This record gives sequence, C-alpha cells and structure tokens, in this order.
Amino acid sequence: MELSWSEKFASRVGRVKGSQIRGFFSLTERPEVISFAGGFPDSDYFPREDISRAISELIEEEGRYALQYTPTEGNYELRTFIARKMRREGVRCEAEDIVVTSGTQQALDLISRLLVDPGDPVLVEEPAYIGGMGAIQSCGGEPVGVVVDKNGACPQKMERALSRLEKQGKTPKLFYTVPNFQNPTGYTTTEDRRRKILDLASRYNFLILEDNPYGEICYEGTIPPSYKSLDTESRVIYIGSYSKIFIPGIRVGWIVGAPLLVEKLIMLKQSADLCSGSLGQRLVYRMALDGYVDENLSRIIGLYRQKRDALFYNMKQSFPPEINYTRPQGGFFVWVTFPDYYPPAYEILTHAIERKVAFVHGQGFYSNGEGTHTARFSFSQPSVEDIHKGISRLGEIFQEIRRQEPVKTAINR
Ligand SMILES: Cc1ncc(COP(=O)(O)O)c(C=O)c1O
Repeated sequence: MELSWSEKFASRVGRVKGSQIRGFFSLTERPEVISFAGGFPDSDYFPREDISRAISELIEEEGRYALQYTPTEGNYELRTFIARKMRREGVRCEAEDIVVTSGTQQALDLISRLLVDPGDPVLVEEPAYIGGMGAIQSCGGEPVGVVVDKNGACPQKMERALSRLEKQGKTPKLFYTVPNFQNPTGYTTTEDRRRKILDLASRYNFLILEDNPYGEICYEGTIPPSYKSLDTESRVIYIGSYSKIFIPGIRVGWIVGAPLLVEKLIMLKQSADLCSGSLGQRLVYRMALDGYVDENLSRIIGLYRQKRDALFYNMKQSFPPEINYTRPQGGFFVWVTFPDYYPPAYEILTHAIERKVAFVHGQGFYSNGEGTHTARFSFSQPSVEDIHKGISRLGEIFQEIRRQEPVKTAINR
C-alpha cells in the first residue's frame, strides 16, 4: 500500500507554519549576497581560542560531570549564578525559581505548551518576533496584535483589544513581549508603558511573558526596569539567554517564574529533552563566574555599535528621505518603513536579491497580514565594509523605484 505521510501527522502539526524568513534564507545566505536578513551574532566575534582553552580545562577538571546528564531544571551552580544576576536587575528570585532551557526558543515552546490551549487568544506585539508567535500558534493560540510604536506596545490599544475580547467572553492568557530593542523593530517599551501594561494584566487577569535576549546589548543610555522587577503579583514569566550576549552554540537560556509554573515546566522539559547540555551549562558558568562573559560583552558591544553607526550613516547618505527607519540604542535590528506608493517590500527584496543584497520583508512579523511596506534590517552579521556597499546598492534600487513611479508619487504626496 502506498504510504501517505500527511495522513500520519498529528492534527497539531497543521498549525506549524514555516517562517517566511526561512523561506528566503537559502537566497539571502548565499556567500555572494550581502545580507541584512539573519539576526545571528557575528561568528567572527566569538572568542574561539578562549573558549577552546576553557573547554579543555573544563573537561580536565570536571569532565565526569560536564559530560554527564544534568538535572532537568539545570545545573545548580549556574541557576544560583543566574538568580544573583537577576537580583542585581531588581528581580526577587532564587535558584529554585529558575529553569535552564536550551535557548529561549525552548522556553517559548515549553511555556506555550504549558499555558496555551487551541483557540486561546494571546496578546502579541504587532509586529512580533516570529519564533515567539510560531510557538504560540503551534499550540493553537490565536494571536491578538497590539501595535508597537517608538515607546513600545501601546496600552490604550491593548485595552481596546481586551474589551473587544471581553465582549466575546474571552480573556487572553498571556501577553508575549520583547520589551528591549525588540526583534524586529528595535523599539524599547518605556517604564510608564510597562507599568500601565502590568496594571492591565492585573485588571484583566493575564500573564506577561517577557523575552529579553537583547537588553544587555545596549550602545548608549540604559534600559527601563524589567516587567519582572516591577511585578508584585508573580504574573510575569521572564526568559533570558546567553545566545546574543555570549554564544548561541551552547544553547543556554533560562526561565524565571512562580514555583508552580517552574514545577510544571520541569515536567514538560523532562519529556522534551531530559535536560539541556551539561557541557554548555558548565562552560558558561565557569566563564561567567570569573567575569569573562561580561568583559567579552563589553568588547562586542563596542564592535556592534560600530556596525550600527555604519548602518545609520549609510542609510542617511543613500536612502531617499521618504523611507523611515528606527534608530535603536541596542540590539541588532532596524525597522524600515517604505511609503505606500512604493511596491510591496517582498517585491523590493526580489530586486535586491538580484543585485546581491538582502533584508527581510516585514509581513511575516505581523499576525494580521499587515506590514506589506516594512522590512527588518539586521546589522549584526555583515562587516562595516559590506554595510557600506550593501546600503549604497539598496539606495540605488530605491532611487530607481522612485523614478519608475513619478506620477503615483506626486499624487500620494
Ligand atoms: C526575541 C527573540 N527571542 C528568542 C530568540 C531565540 O534565541 P535563543 O533560543 O538562541 O536564546 C531570539 C533569536 O533570535 C529572539 O530574537
């Protein structure tokens, strides 16, 4: 009998959507293409020699443990260290409140599996991090977008969405947010808005999932206090990661949550992967304990700052003035908005790829199909020289687009 795979898949698999970013990745990641698409750290910034030395010492001194399984909730010393780090940021927590995960992506998956039932409305930023939205949707959660502007997610718009849902007899379980140097916009939510959103969470009784991989990659100024540090009702689940502030290859992230949540997450994680890799956990612990991770972070902040400044400088020089873009003080992402009379961003991207330069068009970051004239630019991977070349090339493409649309341009202005 002929085998039909689609018949065999569980019904929940139908909810798993491939990301639009991945769809374009094979094109954008060709070596001859200057790519502003991927949001990975720059592999040239990984301190390979120091890591290699630290791994050898680790195996020599603690190999019996570093090569063994570890408790599902993670290595105790690392959790104690993370708890101390979180307390310095104003979060009251102990090692027992922390679960180490295989990156924050696993945290997003486990938390979605724990909290989201099919049909549950979940508040998400509009636009939002695709991987977060994907985790929620794969559990059947229905994203309800809350527009993000330069001050972060907008509490008035959130309240409107909440009262709309209330009229339908629905309450969202959760608001998923990346409050610092957001992926994809680069925006940071102000303290005032964080407090207002916490107040809404209390009044409408939903949880806040605070995803913070970029907060420490801060080029100037400071970030507002975290939702978790302002939380007096244990409503906030905080997730952090060593991927961007150190290295992603070790896959070390963490969750800080209330005791019952932690207990259930450990049960779910047990069936997901038994535990995150001990080698990575012990490595990051050793290297963080003696201050190396922080020193390395200061070094890479300086390097990424140069790239961000090169991007701003070249965008100012080469982009027509009607193209708007954000100017984040941290993280990896700049959000670009084209005027309505330009072609949709995916068409511009197709031209750009022909000219060997790439970015991500923005529609995939929206749960409602909007964002046709937006794009995400990441400056973390291309070199300063390529940033210059790539943005000048795009500037030429945009000038050509303007010349092709003179009548429409005049009308729309
Ligand atoms: C906002 C956000 N959350 C989570 C992740 C996942 O990161 P990791 O699993 O490496 O910690 C990313 C990765 O780009 C991200 O941008």
